[in-house]
Formats: sequence, structure tokens, C-alpha cells
Amino acid sequence: MTSQLPFLRERVALVTGGGSGIGRACAIALAEAGADVHVVDIAEEPAVSVAARVGGRAHVVDLADPASIERLPAAVDILVNSAGLQHVAPIPEFPAERFTLIQQVMVTAPFLLLRHVLPHMYAGGWGRVVNISSAHGLRASAYKSAYVAAKHGLEGLSKVAAVEGAPYGVTSNCICPGYVRTPLVEAQIEQQAAAHGIDPADVLSRVLLTRSAVKRLIEPEEVAAAAVWLCGPNTGYLTGTSLPLDGGWTAT
Ligand SMILES: NC(=O)c1ccc[n+]([C@@H]2O[C@H](COP(=O)([O-])OP(=O)(O)OC[C@H]3O[C@@H](n4cnc5c(N)ncnc54)[C@H](O)[C@@H]3O)[C@@H](O)[C@H]2O)c1
Repeated sequence: MTSQLPFLRERVALVTGGGSGIGRACAIALAEAGADVHVVDIAEEPAVSVAARVGGRAHVVDLADPASIERLPAAVDILVNSAGLQHVAPIPEFPAERFTLIQQVMVTAPFLLLRHVLPHMYAGGWGRVVNISSAHGLRASAYKSAYVAAKHGLEGLSKVAAVEGAPYGVTSNCICPGYVRTPLVEAQIEQQAAAHGIDPADVLSRVLLTRSAVKRLIEPEEVAAAAVWLCGPNTGYLTGTSLPLDGGWTAT
């Protein structure tokens, strides 16, 4: 149980998107559980400041660039794939290069990172892969073609990693949050308002929270607590799953 802190002492974690939002919360929570944390982000200042806070190392890289992934540490026991971005537009107006970038950062980079770190996990007989998917890995919403496609791709990748990793003590799971209070959500309020033709002030109640039974945003720390739990004791049999943290959205 997570009450036995610091149970991740001597484990090394790499968290993508660790400079902000869910990735930042995961970096902090994993460090509090005892892990050495590598904070990976394209944004330098937040990555450096989170790394300083957790006593870890910052790596400023663009995950859309495969060569940059090769330069990241490979001796990693816990991989948290959290880096992501959003674009909201109807399919006929969706910029093709934006679609491609979202697949690169949110599907191809997690694949390349798995290729990079799994040999170390296999050699040590233990590993935890936590993929920050989304309710949109399980359900679709209008105007999010790239994001929904990427998250469904990540769900499939996670399951394959679970099947291949099982003989080596490596689990792979997805966490599927509803709307989390992070800059990614704050940044899409204007885009959502334009796409739906409504006032930005009404986006939360009329778009984002309509399908959630719990009528609030979830906090990044609540997602991070689930990530740490997936890395804790007694979770070795839990693999290939998707954990909805969606306030009941996918129950309806
Ligand atoms: N916020 C939500 O409501 C929500 C809900 C479900 C799932 N998610 C998922 O959680 C993850 C984190 O989202 P968040 O809400 O914390 O967003 P965020 O914008 O707060 O953080 C995302 C981080 O990813 C980094 N990043 C983006 N592109 C990158 C690149 N090319 N290379 C390296 N780093 C890059 C950003 O710099 C940022 O620090 C994403 O995968 C997102 O899809 C978010």
C-alpha cells in the first residue's frame, strides 16, 4: 500500500511532460515515494524547476524528434508517458501537420521510449509503465480527431507492452482521466468555445463536464496518486488495463 512510503527507494523514474500538469504531479509524487526522477519536457524552465523541487534531473527535449529520445537515460524502472497536446477543430478544418505532430508526441514517442527503456526493465525483472491516456482513449468527442486517435493508439500500445512485459515482471497500464485542472484544459477553452459556437464562460458546464457525473475537474494530484499506486506493491498482477478516473463519464 502507498502508506509504506518510501517504497520506490532505489527505483528510477522517467516522466515525460514532467514540467506541467499531470506529469509534474507524477514527478513530485514518485519522488515523495522515494524514486529518483528524470523530468522530461520541451519547456526548459518548468522542467528545471520541477527537477530542482524533486531533487532529480531535467532533460529538455522535443519528443517529436526521435533522435532526442535516444539521448535520454535508458536505465529506468518506471516510465510515465504524460507529455501531450491538444487541438480542437472539425475534421475538414483540422491541419494535417497538427494531426501528425500529435501522433508523434503521444503515440510514436511512447513507443520509442518503451524500446529505449524496456531492455533495462527486462534485465532487472521489474518495471512499471504508466501511460496517461484519457477518457478519450475510451470514448470519442467531436472536434478531437487527432487526440482521440492518439489516445486510442496509446491504449493499444500499452496492452501490447503488458503482454510482452509480463514474463519479465513489467506491467503496463493506462490511466484515463476526465478533465483535469491543468494548462492543457485551460488552453482549450477558447478553441472549444469557437468550435461549439458558445461563450467561453459556458465551456465548462456545457461541454467539458456534461458527461461526467461528478461535476468538477479532477486535480493533477489525484491522477498522480493513481500512478504511484500502479507502481506500488501488490500491483504485479494488474496489467494491460485502463483505469478510468473520469467522475463516472464512461459509466454512462
Ligand atoms: N488535462 C486534462 O484534462 C487531461 C485529461 C486526460 C488526459 N490528459 C493527458 O494528460 C497528459 C498531460 O496533460 P496535462 O493536462 O498535464 O497538460 P500540460 O499542458 O499541463 O502538460 C503537458 C506537458 O507536455 C509537454 N510537451 C508537449 N509537447 C511536448 C514535446 N513535443 N516534447 C516534450 N514535451 C512536450 C508540455 O511542455 C507540458 O509541460 C497528456 O497526455 C494529456 O493528453 C489530460
